[in-house]
Amino acid sequence: VVAVHLFGQRAPTARLRELCDRHGIPLIEDCAHRVDLLDDRPPLGDMACYSFNAVKEAPAGEGGLVWSSVAGGDERVRILSNLGLTIDTVQRTQVLNHRDYGFSHEIGLKLRGNDLSAALALLSLDHLHALREQRARIFSHYDQAVAAMNTCVQPIERNTGDSFLMYVVRVPAESRDAIREGMAHCGVATSVHYPSLTRHPRLRGPCCPVAERLDRELLTLPSFLALTPSEQDRVLSALAEACQASGAER
Ligand SMILES: Cc1ncc(COP(=O)(O)O)c(C=O)c1O
Repeated sequence: VVAVHLFGQRAPTARLRELCDRHGIPLIEDCAHRVDLLDDRPPLGDMACYSFNAVKEAPAGEGGLVWSSVAGGDERVRILSNLGLTIDTVQRTQVLNHRDYGFSHEIGLKLRGNDLSAALALLSLDHLHALREQRARIFSHYDQAVAAMNTCVQPIERNTGDSFLMYVVRVPAESRDAIREGMAHCGVATSVHYPSLTRHPRLRGPCCPVAERLDRELLTLPSFLALTPSEQDRVLSALAEACQASGAER
């Protein structure tokens, strides 16, 4: 089971942990949208995956980190992320004639991090709380304006301890694309997080009616950290205008 802390909102990991234990299923936490490393509790999953991609909570360009509480889990991740080799570059150069020199024991990928992105990630983690507060201010500005609009709904329950990554609203499905176009016309780019998995050609459904309906209603507003209050107002007016022009009604 993969528990995704989507948009910064904590997944119900305690309940999932119980369920997985009862059925002997491993639990993996996807912390790309919420870095729990600095919080008061370690992950409850057998593994937790973090992303340092440029648009995530702790950006460092690219790269990531895997935390594991499973015996031998870290070793296995190291091997799989290093072409299936059992020794790393330092060991290869330090241990002359190592019997395992450069042999792949299984199919792995080359997903090693590097010192430069690690240094950037550490910097991001040092500033995580400040970055979260900055984004929380943008979200609270948006929340107030969206609450007063009758065509848009902010669907995510705000719980203490949540962090904020993507600002998503729900609009009527039949008007969503027109609203996006209207906003683009005002110079405001939007996105959709996320299209239902069942619409990906390799996983074609349909078999998840709720996800498929939501996928037609969702709209993500810009919420990057450099967005000034007047730019946030511009986003909100573009949203209000585009909703009105589309004739959308809830
Ligand atoms: C929820 C979630 N998990 C995982 C990832 C993958 O992260 P990365 O691009 O660092 O592999 C992403 C984003 O790309 C994501 O949004």
